Amino acid sequence: MAMDELKLKVAKEAFNYVENSIERDTIIGVGTGSTANFFIEELGKIASRLEGAVASSEETARRLKSIGIPVFDLNTVGEVQVYVDGADEANEYLHLIKGGGAALTREKIIAAASREFICIADESKLVPILGKFPLPVEVIPMSRSFVGRQIVKLGGDPVYREGCVTDNGNHIIDIFNLVIDQPTEMEQRLNQITGVVTNGLFANRGADQLFLGTSSGVKVFNS
Ligand code: 5RP
Repeated sequence: MAMDELKLKVAKEAFNYVENSIERDTIIGVGTGSTANFFIEELGKIASRLEGAVASSEETARRLKSIGIPVFDLNTVGEVQVYVDGADEANEYLHLIKGGGAALTREKIIAAASREFICIADESKLVPILGKFPLPVEVIPMSRSFVGRQIVKLGGDPVYREGCVTDNGNHIIDIFNLVIDQPTEMEQRLNQITGVVTNGLFANRGADQLFLGTSSGVKVFNS
């Protein structure tokens, strides 16, 4: 089955879950990427039932507004009931690598502020050990070389993502060949490097549920 078909299937399943579980006039969190975009299209069906959404990127905010869903600044809303987003990799504990689309910091903030985090992904994203996908790290621009040297000390190969400026005005370093056998510890160690805004490991706050699109249907994993 084509990848896009799996992404559509899983987005529809997540939409059904959200539609049946949310209260009226609620605010939901919406992620970034091609799988999240399929979910946004579905969400349009219940636009009138939602008070609005918080978006993990400018691109997602634009898409939500274009289908009539108001977008709020997270500072103006309380706890977000549910956050739905994709991932670049997921393991069986629902630890994730995110940030392929450079939206990791806002994604991590919304995940932290949400009661429930549902990850939607096609089956190619489920891996035994995280790290084949290069781990994105958002850095303050002037710290880029310094952070790169610290990453080398941790055993990774840092590569500057040329031409990429995040929605927060920062840069991205992708870490190749990093052994991530202890995701929660690695997430903390990377975040302690001065100049790092955050990294794309979502282990300390992983997903609560993973909806995985497979050729034999959508499988749901719980943390
Ligand atoms: C963006 C992300 C995305 O969730 C991740 O890159 C997955 O994208 P896609 O659904 O297009 O495969 O973290 O920063």
